[in-house]
Amino acid sequence: MLIEQYLDQCLKMLDGIYGLPEPERLERIEKFVKSTVSLTPDIYSPKNLKYLFSYPDPIGVFADFVSSYINCNVHTEECSPIFTRCEVEMVEIMLSLVGYTEGDGVFYPGGTLSNLASIFLAVQRGKADLDKSVIIVSDHSHYSVGKAAKICGIKQIINVKTTTKGVVDLENLRELVSKIKDENLELIYFCCVMGSTTLGTFDPVEEILEIFQEFAVKPWIHFDAAWGGGVYFSEDAAFYRKLSSLSDSIVFDFHKFLSAPLLCSVFLVREESVLVDEAIALNGNYLFTNNQNRKYSLSLKSLQCSREAYAFKLWLMFKYHGIEHYKNLIQKYYENREEFKKKLCNRVLYVVESQYLNLCFWFIPKTMEVKEIITDYTITELEKIDRLNLAIYNKVVEEGFM
Ligand SMILES: Cc1ncc(COP(=O)(O)O)c(C=O)c1O
Repeated sequence: MLIEQYLDQCLKMLDGIYGLPEPERLERIEKFVKSTVSLTPDIYSPKNLKYLFSYPDPIGVFADFVSSYINCNVHTEECSPIFTRCEVEMVEIMLSLVGYTEGDGVFYPGGTLSNLASIFLAVQRGKADLDKSVIIVSDHSHYSVGKAAKICGIKQIINVKTTTKGVVDLENLRELVSKIKDENLELIYFCCVMGSTTLGTFDPVEEILEIFQEFAVKPWIHFDAAWGGGVYFSEDAAFYRKLSSLSDSIVFDFHKFLSAPLLCSVFLVREESVLVDEAIALNGNYLFTNNQNRKYSLSLKSLQCSREAYAFKLWLMFKYHGIEHYKNLIQKYYENREEFKKKLCNRVLYVVESQYLNLCFWFIPKTMEVKEIITDYTITELEKIDRLNLAIYNKVVEEGFM
């Protein structure tokens, strides 16, 4: 990794800034850091393809360094007057991107916490009776959604089936909603997956909402666009904006699809008034006073108290590159996907038709025919396909072979 070459310069800078009392001890630090770096998967390698984050935007890294150095807390305006304004500005840009005309939002360290915030708001909105409250999740919802429901005390978490296309099965959803109504329970929350983690699939939002309308149920509709948020920077942005204007909240993980340094997520709500929970926030009266402008008291809107300058990373990236850069970047990712597809041999079977940047496929052994869908194979054939794909995977991991 390149950083190893520059580590001594970084340490000199550290000494220059802080004037460390025993600079010679930095050599020991250098050794520790070098071995840590060498034992960590190299995110800068073009072969590092497994996860949903990549090497960070350099301007974001610089912003991260500056905010760590300044080390101010983005909980109130008086502590962080500028970082606070940067965050509010970024929230306003994102609100217009998702079609929330009177919404609000706050940055979070990750999609998991943002999903938790969305379920918390759903519970608060309806003053839900937790014994009667139900949420439905699918196999393709991120596991943080079910986990958040448990944290919020929801006892009934029902699984809806998914189709072979990797989205919610509408027939099964209709049956579940009907049963929930019959049993006099309350569906308080539904999370539409907008870009599933492994397949990159998008739930059919309009059809899902029709089912809720048919049964006159009004769950809080959350869009988990932690990964799929890139579509808002794509040619299809207007279509997705129309869809999200129907939701109650949405999350984007910029550390995933825009390569902001970890962590940088925004949680947005359609109705401005719901974000500040008076009962919880006002207990912090050592921080929050009545003479503050609440627009800038960001911890009032968050489950956190102390907060880092998550938004400043994105703000500086946007100031440096401009929003067009990100549109071009997402376009390039789609082109890369097509290029990658061309390079694949013709012995592959796609798990689902690609809706986003994910490309999921199985290699089919040479002795077998490439069929239409995976369910066309027998169990013995599937075992053989599994063995081949695991062997290829292991070869990639162990030998760096591609
Ligand atoms: C769809 C989706 N939602 C939520 C999350 C959780 O986000 P984070 O890892 O930022 O907590 C992920 C992470 O991969 C995800 O893919």
